[in-house]
Amino acid sequence: MAGKLTFTMIKPTAFKNNYAGPILKMINEAGFVIKAMKLTQLTPSQAGAFYAVHKGKPFYESLVEFMSSGPIIAAVLEKENAVEDYRALIGATNPENAEEGTIRKLYATSLQQNAVHGSDSDENAAIESDFFFSKTERY
Ligand code: TYD
Repeated sequence: MAGKLTFTMIKPTAFKNNYAGPILKMINEAGFVIKAMKLTQLTPSQAGAFYAVHKGKPFYESLVEFMSSGPIIAAVLEKENAVEDYRALIGATNPENAEEGTIRKLYATSLQQNAVHGSDSDENAAIESDFFFSKTERY
């Protein structure tokens, strides 16, 4: 059975462009409940650890630099079928391939600066939520 939780980040460029408000509105209107949320800035070391699965890929170093370049919003979201439904709401990794009306289609500025992160499995949603939030920082 699919889990009810997923994890998201509003990435530095989207935050800087003042898209956090519209993105959070889309998240709420799609039926997700925010269970935890914080504004923070990752160190390069933290960004490197978060994206460790991509270590060695050509885009890794640049991605780590970008993800630690400014404030982000991290959040845990709840909804039935959360991971799959949130991936549908955000659209394809490359915004050029994202469907009309998706968060990445509307707010991404490039493949790397694609507005938001969304977990790709229930297991990663739990790992990523634990990376940012202690038990007392969520309800
Ligand atoms: P990935 O986990 O493949 O995508 P998603 O975020 O949709 O789960 O990649 C992680 C991030 O790395 C992605 O959001 C943007 C960046 N990225 C690049 O900069 N270049 C690339 O070629 C790819 C595949 C990803």
